[in-house]
Amino acid sequence: MKVLVTGGLGFIGSHTVVELLEENNDVIIVDNLYNSKIEVLGKLETISGNSIKFYQYDLLDKEKLDEIFAENEIDSVIHFAGYKAVGESVREPLMYYTNNLISTLNLLEVMKKYNVKKIVFSSSATVYGEQESPKYVETMKRGETASPYGTTKAMIEKMLEDLYASDNSWNITILRYFNPVGAHKSGLIGEEPNGIPNNLMPYVMKVAAGKLEQLSIFGNDYPTPDGTGVRDYIHVVDLAKGHVKALQNSPDGLNVYNLGSGKGVSVLELVTTFERVNELKVNYKIVDRRPGDLPEYYADPTKALKELDWKTEKTLEDICKDTWNYQKNNI
Ligand code: NAD
Ligand code: UD1
Repeated sequence: MKVLVTGGLGFIGSHTVVELLEENNDVIIVDNLYNSKIEVLGKLETISGNSIKFYQYDLLDKEKLDEIFAENEIDSVIHFAGYKAVGESVREPLMYYTNNLISTLNLLEVMKKYNVKKIVFSSSATVYGEQESPKYVETMKRGETASPYGTTKAMIEKMLEDLYASDNSWNITILRYFNPVGAHKSGLIGEEPNGIPNNLMPYVMKVAAGKLEQLSIFGNDYPTPDGTGVRDYIHVVDLAKGHVKALQNSPDGLNVYNLGSGKGVSVLELVTTFERVNELKVNYKIVDRRPGDLPEYYADPTKALKELDWKTEKTLEDICKDTWNYQKNNI
């Protein structure tokens, strides 16, 4: 299958390209390098032993996007491109609405023009908002989103639903990721956040590497077993494989799947596991809760197992080892 991967040089996109090539798909990447580096392309070629067609185009430029479809017989699209920093989206909502919504609209319009009607879209568990139960299942209604970033994801889900309602020859798969972490075992590709990280794992990594002094654990008085926040951390390679399975096994129509392990892990559990498997210390202190954080949520991944034949295979130990291996390679 010839797959166009938007945002394919980013964190999740790059790992997905590796898995797509492993399964003998033809891959074309489009990325404007806003949040990624061109060196990743060479690393993907090293890992896979393939040369990869790459377009450094912005999805906001519809004419350029059209060129890609005119030049290539594309069968399907995996759409990762977008901005993803929650805090920044609160400060710069227009930037987020413009990039995430307009680029998706451009993509869908061009796909329609070239009669390419199979798309996998990167959504997020954030669209659930706050629910009665911490175990999120796809039958729950979308909730109140906590940021403009989250709202763009909910709006795109809705756009895709309307598109499907207008023409049910589309095959649309919406994947709701829980907390993606980890890195490829080669140590060549991983997550490289700009500036001081907001998310837990990149922060832990920087403290372990001595680049930041101390991790702040946001609250230890939540109603969870050890009082710290609980999330469902998913290894990026498992997540990447979920996209390949979605392309292969997603039934006709519009389908939504949680991609998570189904297991809640607390902040302290993650930090102590990281210390144990890598035999190092992570300096931390407990501080106040971070406003807007929920105490606990994790995926019900049953539907993805049943319909896509996908489940996570990597453990929290694997996550911690691979993350550190990447950091060591890139110090
Ligand atoms: P990332 O920033 O590493 O990758 C996104 C890529 O898209 C980057 O390489 C960036 O340069 C590119 N891009 C952005 N806007 C573009 C545009 N207009 N035209 C062309 N390229 C553009 O992010 P990621 O972590 O790999 O996330 C991929 C997708 O998954 C995003 O849509 C994100 O919102 C979603 N998601 C991520 C997480 C997470 O924690 N990483 C969780 C849930 C959902
Ligand atoms: C956040 C985003 C979510 C996004 C996800 C990507 C919000 C509200 N949600 O989720 O939309 O999809 O990132 O992975 O921002 N923590 C600390 N210290 C830190 C950082 C985090 O204790 O320095 C704790 C948090 O309180 C939380 C857990 O670690 O309990 C995970 O936090 P984080 O990695 O930021 O992800 P989420 O907040 O779950």
